[in-house]
Amino acid sequence: MKQDMVEQKLRIGLIFGGRSAEHEVSLMSATSVLAALDPEKYEVTCIGVTHDGAWLVGEDVLEAMKTGRAQSLHPAVLLHDPAQSELFCIRKQDTGRQLEMVTRLDVLFPLIHGTNGEDGTIQGLFELADRAYVGSGVVGSAVGMDKVVFKDVMRANGIPVVRSTLILRQDFEHRPEAAIEAAEALGPYPLFTKPVNLGSSVGISKCVSRSDLMEGLIEAARYDRRILVEQGIDAREIEVSVLGNEHPIASVPGEVLPSREFYSYESKYTDGTSELLIPAPLEEEEVRQFQDFAVRAYEACDCAGLARVDFLMEKRSRRIILNELNTIPGFTNISMYPKLWMASGFTYPGLVDRLIELALERKAQRDRTEHRFWRDG
Ligand SMILES: Nc1ncnc2c1ncn2[C@@H]1O[C@H](COP(=O)(O)OP(=O)(O)O)[C@@H](O)[C@H]1O
Ligand SMILES: [Mg+2]
Repeated sequence: MKQDMVEQKLRIGLIFGGRSAEHEVSLMSATSVLAALDPEKYEVTCIGVTHDGAWLVGEDVLEAMKTGRAQSLHPAVLLHDPAQSELFCIRKQDTGRQLEMVTRLDVLFPLIHGTNGEDGTIQGLFELADRAYVGSGVVGSAVGMDKVVFKDVMRANGIPVVRSTLILRQDFEHRPEAAIEAAEALGPYPLFTKPVNLGSSVGISKCVSRSDLMEGLIEAARYDRRILVEQGIDAREIEVSVLGNEHPIASVPGEVLPSREFYSYESKYTDGTSELLIPAPLEEEEVRQFQDFAVRAYEACDCAGLARVDFLMEKRSRRIILNELNTIPGFTNISMYPKLWMASGFTYPGLVDRLIELALERKAQRDRTEHRFWRDG
């Protein structure tokens, strides 16, 4: 009897760390999720991804990664072949390298923010391996990550976004004066400069003058081939959590009160003084508007599982502008995404359970899709 129960446990692969500036944030998110995964229901395998992109398994992976003792861990791989898509550990032998099976995984739970975790690349591997996984697929992840394509998709769906222009790093380096001219054509300062594909405010500058703009473009160009310049808005920052696959639901909106001039990397992670207001003080009609835009944005990008949708609300006019969509938002037990659901009737472990259910539901939907085309006669 006991044996049966053990065999029925769902095998979860929790993947964290990663090759991004949000590596440490990811370890914190994973700590909270791991604590919330009920050992009666789940058998969890932790997979730590290093800054260099190596996958590591072993004893107490999270602790080892946090304390920089990754030498005690073993390299691991997930093969793309659906028939051999167990998690394997790579053992070095005298005769070469050998793959040793660690476990088969029923659901992969990627908790890597930003590069290679939130941008569709790891999701592509899960698709090839034909595994169930938490969160958005390749398209939703990639569109959510690309600040330029994302804004174009919003515009095509009638969802308001800020005025912006794209500048290629190569063009900026060859003709900086043309880049400055294109940026200044957006309107008066302040302007924001951003790498197109990044997060955690890394490489983002608020520019109040032409010399600032020049510096901002140089800074953003360090992190991406493509640079986005946006009109700066004097705004409140409102965030909505969305949950679901085919028919997603929206949480109550929350508000961030950044500790600095804007919600910069320092203000997000190092000062520890940015405040979250839950629920955000808003009119009823505004709440509905935020929730409607959040769900529409989510559906337009074909998201699944979860996303946090972030808005700017112009202080003077109360105009609502959609800023960005994060498909793997911060997930510690004090992060905005889960806290908004806790204010909307979920418990933290209940939310984690629901995400795993949604991963299995999405996999079942995918399994119904035919991949061969037969024509009679
Ligand atoms: N157009 C803008 N106007 C005013 N503030 C902005 C604008 N764009 C970004 N910001 C500020 O910069 C922060 C980070 O920008 P965001 O686009 O959310 O990038 P990230 O993906 O790094 O979080 C925002 O939370 C906000 O404080
Ligand atoms: Mg943001």
